[in-house]
Amino acid sequence: MTSAHPATLPPARAQSGSLRLRFLLAVMLWVVLGIGSIWISATRVFTSHVEQQFHDELNVHVRELARLTDIDSKGRPFLIRPLSDPRYEVPLSGYYWQVNAASGAVLRSASMTRGNLDDEVAHSHTIAHRVEEGPTGPVIAYGLARSDRMGGETHFVIATDQEELNRVVRNFTRELTLALAVLGLLLLATGFAIIRYGLRPLNRLGEAVARLREGQAVQLEGTYPSEIAPLADDLNDYIRQNAEMIARARVQAANLAHSLRTPLAVVTDEAERLAEGDKAPESARVLLDQARMMEQQIEYQLARARSAGARVPGSTSTLPDLLVPILSAMKRLHPDVHFVLRNELDGDCVLQADPVDFSELVSILIDNAGKWAASTVTVGLRETRGHVRISVEDDGPGMTASQIARAFEVGMRFDPDKPGSGLGLAIAKDICVSMGARLELKPEVGGLIAQLDFGEAA
Ligand SMILES: Nc1ncnc2c1ncn2[C@@H]1O[C@H](COP(=O)(O)OP(=O)(O)OP(=O)(O)O)[C@@H](O)[C@H]1O
Ligand SMILES: [Mg+2]
Repeated sequence: MTSAHPATLPPARAQSGSLRLRFLLAVMLWVVLGIGSIWISATRVFTSHVEQQFHDELNVHVRELARLTDIDSKGRPFLIRPLSDPRYEVPLSGYYWQVNAASGAVLRSASMTRGNLDDEVAHSHTIAHRVEEGPTGPVIAYGLARSDRMGGETHFVIATDQEELNRVVRNFTRELTLALAVLGLLLLATGFAIIRYGLRPLNRLGEAVARLREGQAVQLEGTYPSEIAPLADDLNDYIRQNAEMIARARVQAANLAHSLRTPLAVVTDEAERLAEGDKAPESARVLLDQARMMEQQIEYQLARARSAGARVPGSTSTLPDLLVPILSAMKRLHPDVHFVLRNELDGDCVLQADPVDFSELVSILIDNAGKWAASTVTVGLRETRGHVRISVEDDGPGMTASQIARAFEVGMRFDPDKPGSGLGLAIAKDICVSMGARLELKPEVGGLIAQLDFGEAA
């Protein structure tokens, strides 16, 4: 199936400058901004919350350590009972404590199987904290100093690996990122669905316009949402007015041509009589020539008006069927010429072209070939990748390039020996333009090829 006018449907994908693309970009920006700001604020809030909790816990632990520590008679610190958090018992768990007594004796948590904590942070009776090097990397250390019974100062330090805090934040961030990415994808998908749904009436409008162009409809069909409905109504009004105007103009042109016909016949008649007499034969000749030109123009306009009136919107032409009656008519018209149909089509081929126009167009070309052929006219049909080519070839005298260049003018003839009014090719060209086909005359060695192209190549 081939279309002379490929249907122009609205783009299904987002093209640059399309509404769909604008909406897509807006939705993407909206989702990225929304999800991005949620991500930033959520990680901030969570990090500070976790940090706060961490510090509170260390605060409590350093107080607990101070409360549970006692100094024996030799000035050595000892714990009345273990700290409540068991992690201080697990070797290198990342949770450490250390007590430095005034005597210089040091007591460390069971978790501190190696290393030392700097008790510099425990320099006053209020709790201080800082980051320092611990047994298993950087630690957040909390320190507190207390006076002992002997008047010396005992320093208490509680430390937790900073990596512990980082790990909690990292885990949270990873989970949050994953959840927000899924949410973002869902939002984008629903956004796209909304755009598709929202733009559906525009697609329908595009399809209605395509049907109009193909002649399958005379108006924009369908109901549209209130934003587009006025546009569709205005367009329909415009189309109606246009059609009425064209119909009126066509009738007027036909009337004008008809009304000129009779006076022109009288003028021609008079001029012929004048030309035969001996008075002013020159002027009579001029009159006659002019009258013939006017007649040609009238015939041409009437032929065009007739074929435009017969056109049925949306009708199609099927090949090779349509050619059969034309060829048999041509055989009767030119009985001395042999007509050959060279059909290279795979089965039938349907052209989106009005059959009346199409028949007229092909008849003009075959008639010319028949008129000038020495013996044979070959009509070829071929389809390649959606393009249909119809060629009409004869073995007559052919035409020169300069003749071809002028052959499409109204009334142009190069061979006065053959009958005709020089309108055929002018009408053929007109029909081609109206159906979007391309017509080319090609000089051949010993003949002429008229080539008609339908499809995208046209
Ligand atoms: N196949 C052809 N071989 C040689 N000359 C041609 C051929 N077809 C057209 N021509 C030349 O081009 C001219 C214009 O052709 P066109 O079909 O417009 O007019 P016509 O055939 O003379 O008259 P009409 O078609 O109106 O009866 C012809 O008069 C003829 O000189
Ligand atoms: Mg002709």
